[in-house]
Amino acid sequence: MKALVIGSGGREHALCWKLRQSPLLEELYCAPANPGIAEVADPVPIPADAIHDLADFAAEAKIDLTVVGPELPLALGIVDEFINRGLPIFGPRRQAAELEGSKVFAKEFMKRHGIPTAEFEIVHGAEEARLAVRRFGFPVVLKADGLAAGKGVMIPHDEHELEGHLATFFDERRFGTAAERVVVEECLEGEEISFIAICDGERVLPVATSKDYKRLGDGDEGPNTGGMGAHSPAGVLGGTGSEILDRVIRPTVAGMDAENRRFMGVLYAGLMLTEDGPRVLEFNVRFGDPEAQPIFLRMEGDLLEVLASGAAGRFETPRLNFRKEAAACIVLASKGYPEKPAKGDVITGLEAAAGQEGVEIFQAGTAIKDGQLVAAGGRVLNVCASGATLRDALKRAYGAATAVRWDNRIFRHDIGRRVLNRAGS
Ligand code: AMP
Ligand code: GLY
Repeated sequence: MKALVIGSGGREHALCWKLRQSPLLEELYCAPANPGIAEVADPVPIPADAIHDLADFAAEAKIDLTVVGPELPLALGIVDEFINRGLPIFGPRRQAAELEGSKVFAKEFMKRHGIPTAEFEIVHGAEEARLAVRRFGFPVVLKADGLAAGKGVMIPHDEHELEGHLATFFDERRFGTAAERVVVEECLEGEEISFIAICDGERVLPVATSKDYKRLGDGDEGPNTGGMGAHSPAGVLGGTGSEILDRVIRPTVAGMDAENRRFMGVLYAGLMLTEDGPRVLEFNVRFGDPEAQPIFLRMEGDLLEVLASGAAGRFETPRLNFRKEAAACIVLASKGYPEKPAKGDVITGLEAAAGQEGVEIFQAGTAIKDGQLVAAGGRVLNVCASGATLRDALKRAYGAATAVRWDNRIFRHDIGRRVLNRAGS
């Protein structure tokens, strides 16, 4: 089979690494890829949002399966474009991708189908927002309706902070049309986890649990980011996995089908495990980045075959299998991320670190300059490792992370620590 992966980050590098292991694979392409991905797939210089050019390429190269990494092409309707042209692709159509693309749609959908989530109101301006906040009290959560690269969620703790955020949404209009509607919701307490499943429109195959670390700094301080580290298993799930499947994932897939938005693709629920049970914080319609990296390290079997059958409308396998070992991912970023990351530093020590036992390094924001690998984005490298236990996996990942260097390298030092402390292991 000939496969095409869309995207250029660490998630897509891990996806290509996993697809490469398929005995069915003949040729693997990635658009637009990065220098790390180019070691395992043929790079295609087409941006991820150029959905018509990507379809032209897939048709010309006779691609048997396209897999989409990031959300933007999905929200732009890449799957509709491919399906209309008879090109096999794994991912949700534009209308189904609204589960991620519109928080207002997602919240109202959950309400219609009795899927547990925080209480909320939809507002269109500052005055309406103040009224809604009165109902929930502080702290309260404000979310821009549309895609905002993970930056559209605010949690003000008092009137002063609230006014600042309302000005950002409604006066400065920093998020443009993405914040024409804003969700105001109750602030939930508990442990956050990611629950990911792949769906063929009807059937659901759960993926191993994972947990990501969204804040920039140790101790969950600092701004939200795309994710500074992750591990699988999540380690905090207890017995709630089947409850999440039954109360969240299956009703979502059934509900989308009932609303003529059949969901084929990756369904990712970000959840808060509260005292009253799991509550959905958000849906994504793609693999998490960096959650996918440790997940693929643990995944057994042929991912290409599974995704191709899903794209054809029916999974052949009853379940996905994952190794018992744990896996962890430490994101190495550049100083200034997420606002204005430093770029251009030469990266050293990569090969030696990647050669350490159990270690796999995926590239995210890298480039080749004058023949050398340089940091070229916010999240630069994903240093991942497997190990018999989560503690072992983290130890290996951190050992390798400190061996890779560049001038402005930063990373969190406490990925997994709270989970290990809680487990007492
Ligand atoms: P979202 O993009 O909706 O997942 O929100 C980003 C982050 O904001 C989440 O990962 C949570 O840490 C936090 N968050 C979102 N909604 C809530 C909520 N209702 N209560 C508490 N924290 C929340
Ligand atoms: N790591 C969170 C996300 O991919 O949205």
